[in-house]
Amino acid sequence: MRVLVTGGAGFIGANFVHWTRSNRPDVELTVLDALTYASDGSSLGDAAPLVRGDISDAALVDRLVGESDLVVHFAAETHNDNSLSDPSPFVQTNVVGTFTILEAVRRHGVRLHHVSTDEVYGDLELDDPERFSETTPYNPSSPYSSTKAASDLLVRAWVRSFGITATLSNCSNNYGPYQHVEKFIPRQITNVLDGGRPKLYGDGLNVRDWIHVDDHNSGVWAIIDKGRSGETYLIGADGEETNRAVVEAILRELGQPEDAYDLVRDRPGHDRRYAIDSTKLRTELGWVPEYPDFAAGLKATIAWYRENEAWWRPQKAATEAKYAKVGQ
Ligand code: NAD
Ligand code: TYD
Repeated sequence: MRVLVTGGAGFIGANFVHWTRSNRPDVELTVLDALTYASDGSSLGDAAPLVRGDISDAALVDRLVGESDLVVHFAAETHNDNSLSDPSPFVQTNVVGTFTILEAVRRHGVRLHHVSTDEVYGDLELDDPERFSETTPYNPSSPYSSTKAASDLLVRAWVRSFGITATLSNCSNNYGPYQHVEKFIPRQITNVLDGGRPKLYGDGLNVRDWIHVDDHNSGVWAIIDKGRSGETYLIGADGEETNRAVVEAILRELGQPEDAYDLVRDRPGHDRRYAIDSTKLRTELGWVPEYPDFAAGLKATIAWYRENEAWWRPQKAATEAKYAKVGQ
């Protein structure tokens, strides 16, 4: 099988390539990535050939899709805070880029797996007994989540109106190696490694539902193998934690007092809580997470950032300068 992986030089895409190399040696991979600020060629190493290009480049996408049996579409602008300072690349990549891929898979009759987020569902109250499921209405809050929601709806419409073969997944917050230092967990780990303090938005009590990136990617493969076209599957590993609890765990692991963090300006429109019910993926497709122990996964991730300073160091100062400008 020839698989085109968009966004394969980013966090989840690069881990997808490594996971596939280890677990599906028969699969032929090609990566299409624009190598934006969020990517790092060294995450991918020589695990797959890389074509540098934009998913909105219709001629390039048409050629690469025509040489593939399956497209796994990770490429996106992904950081909520950036989407608040400049939404424009989010509309371009997440909406127009996904449209460009849809038109190419339609022309060539190639299957698509579209990778999305649980943030399309908006947020939950802290005490809400419900979690997100495949039937939760879309209600996105930010430019990031609204453009991901738009891309999901385009995929569903192309299945229904044009009969393309496509599956969708909406996953909760990922953690693991090769995640950009702008994101919550790597930012706090590297702040402490740098002798600084973690920065918690608002009251620090927002809840995220954490999943190890390898579990996300094994979920994507379960859907590729056994999922039905037109269906959406939620991927989550029951990893709800307050942001404050995560920061306290990082501080403890790095030998600091667990209250050595700063509360900073809250994110405008900050979603309160995400939580995923992944019953459909587990019961219909038999998927189970391999790393359900968040505390153990977090320790391993802290060790990875400690041992791979050369990977994250070049991004750190510019990222912190961007946050400093907005008081975060
Ligand atoms: P990332 O920001 O780390 O990587 C995105 C990659 O896409 C980068 O390599 C970047 O260069 C590439 N890219 C951006 N614009 C492009 C364009 N126009 N053309 C080609 N390549 C382009 O993101 P990530 O965290 O790895 O997320 C990957 C996907 O998973 C996204 O679709 C995201 O919405 C989804 N997702 C992420 C999470 C999470 O917790 N990170 C959770 C659920 C779903
Ligand atoms: P983030 O990694 O940006 O993911 P998302 O917004 O997609 O959930 O943030 C995760 C949570 O951490 C979110 O509630 C915002 C919060 N946060 C902080 O408290 N401090 C930070 O420095 C960052 C980057 C995020």
